[in-house]
Amino acid sequence: MKEEALYDLFRRKLMEWFASSHRPMPWKGEKDPYLIWLSEVILQQTRVEQGLPYFERFRAQYPDIRSLANAPEDELMKLWEGLGYYSRARNLHQAAKYVANELEGRFPDTYEGIRQLKGVGPYTAAAIASFAYGLPYAVVDGNVSRVLARFFGIDSPVDSGAGKKQFAALAQALLSQTAPGRHNQAMMDFGATHCTPRAPLCRDCPLQQACRAFQQDRVAELPRKEKKPEKKTRFFHYLIFNRQGQAWIRKRTEKDIWRNLYDFPLLELGHPAQGVGEIQNSGCWQQRMGQEQAQNIRASRPFLQLLTHQKIQASFWEIELADETPFNSEGLIAVKRENLSKFAFPRIIDWYLNDNSLYLKLL
Ligand code: ADE
Ligand code: SF4
Repeated sequence: MKEEALYDLFRRKLMEWFASSHRPMPWKGEKDPYLIWLSEVILQQTRVEQGLPYFERFRAQYPDIRSLANAPEDELMKLWEGLGYYSRARNLHQAAKYVANELEGRFPDTYEGIRQLKGVGPYTAAAIASFAYGLPYAVVDGNVSRVLARFFGIDSPVDSGAGKKQFAALAQALLSQTAPGRHNQAMMDFGATHCTPRAPLCRDCPLQQACRAFQQDRVAELPRKEKKPEKKTRFFHYLIFNRQGQAWIRKRTEKDIWRNLYDFPLLELGHPAQGVGEIQNSGCWQQRMGQEQAQNIRASRPFLQLLTHQKIQASFWEIELADETPFNSEGLIAVKRENLSKFAFPRIIDWYLNDNSLYLKLL
């Protein structure tokens, strides 16, 4: 089959599928570029089911871009808590301020203009440009490349430089020029709900007859990926100093994961702590306690959080300070334990704080 005819068939079958699919989303048919942008940024690296309630809360709290621009940073981070990839929230805030202050509150209406916004990559820019303005830019992400790799039987790794170019060019060539927004939404939904990574619904697929992977029985092999390096593990030992129902926290300002979230004084080692001695001999301990040792320390079980490029294993050391024990709280904030939930923490800390069935080892 000639290329153009195959593209045409693909578009027709995809639209047939889309017309009979039902995936209600609050932003379907939405034309406000601000709300589309907000939903797309929330959905970056996040499943729709997880992102939806966040989108609703953000829309209620910040109905337009000026209200988002004027939001206090801590309030925004708290609302974002649990979504992960916190740079998205910081970028969202910066971009909102930029539009409010530099563009008189008018959301950019060209692809290049949208692409200037912090945190907006080609995928998000194409989604906004096509949904809000009907501009012909194809979205390409993991879902889209998977569909293309299978339907066209393409072996290039989807995560290689050359592969990305190839899939981007193909997606663009395939894009409907008359209804790019609808086409993009159909591609996203088809990849996310029908031509899924594991167990795609081939038996009930309108694209099946022309699908190369299906014809050649290679569905399970495609898309191909380059091998990923092992994730590095970091061992965090959080020191929770308590006195009279208060604990000390700090804001993470360093250039690392979780910037602008809160946590506790942190001792990072390349390995799990061997015992309480290793904790009390550390620089982190001595900065706060000098040579003072504590009588009352409890250690939590280890908690594990998988991030994109690293694994975090955290254990929590609860230290009960007597009233007269000297403690250096420089750079820390004293907070009542019952008020800890007002601060935005990384999820691993929330897991610990909410773990009522804690088995605490007495040392
Ligand atoms: N993921 C990211 N954007 C999406 C959208 N508009 N619809 C469905 N899933 C998405
Ligand atoms: Fe995807 Fe299977 Fe349909 Fe091919 S036949 S497009 S692999 S769901």
